[in-house]
Amino acid sequence: MATATKDGLESDIVKFISQCRKKEHPESYLIAVLHKVQEKYGYLSQDHMNEVAQRLQVPTSTVSGVATFYHFFRLRPRGKYAISVCLGTACFVKGADKVLNAFQTELGIEMGETTADGLFSLENTRCLGVCALAPVVTINDTVYSKVTANQVPELIRQVKSGKNVEG
Ligand code: FES
Repeated sequence: MATATKDGLESDIVKFISQCRKKEHPESYLIAVLHKVQEKYGYLSQDHMNEVAQRLQVPTSTVSGVATFYHFFRLRPRGKYAISVCLGTACFVKGADKVLNAFQTELGIEMGETTADGLFSLENTRCLGVCALAPVVTINDTVYSKVTANQVPELIRQVKSGKNVEG
């Protein structure tokens, strides 16, 4: 079983970083390391990014730069309800951008952020393979099809009241 070091990162990640350090260009494994950290903790905390920088021996500014550049890295914990709007082509042409805007307006957060109460986070996703249902939104494991911007406030109300989605 993996154990946490005094610095926070668990031993399996520390071991992976040590293996990377033995390779020719350890810094080229930075994205792989960050993926492992996010997989384990759900997001990249500042403390974990600092430890990655120190252990992989790359500048902290490089780690932060990579973490903020790639949209698939989260810098805050996910909300209880992770809302994901598909921005694949089929969904986009059917108005996914308007749906996304409606979520942003209704929740008062931008893409990649979590509401202050920790309830909702907002992400985008690539094609989910159910284009006939476009535009598609997922909230945790529940899939919503043919979502319109007008439905967004009601959808949020339903989720808040515990309908449809497991928290
Ligand atoms: S583009 Fe959204 S499900 Fe395919």
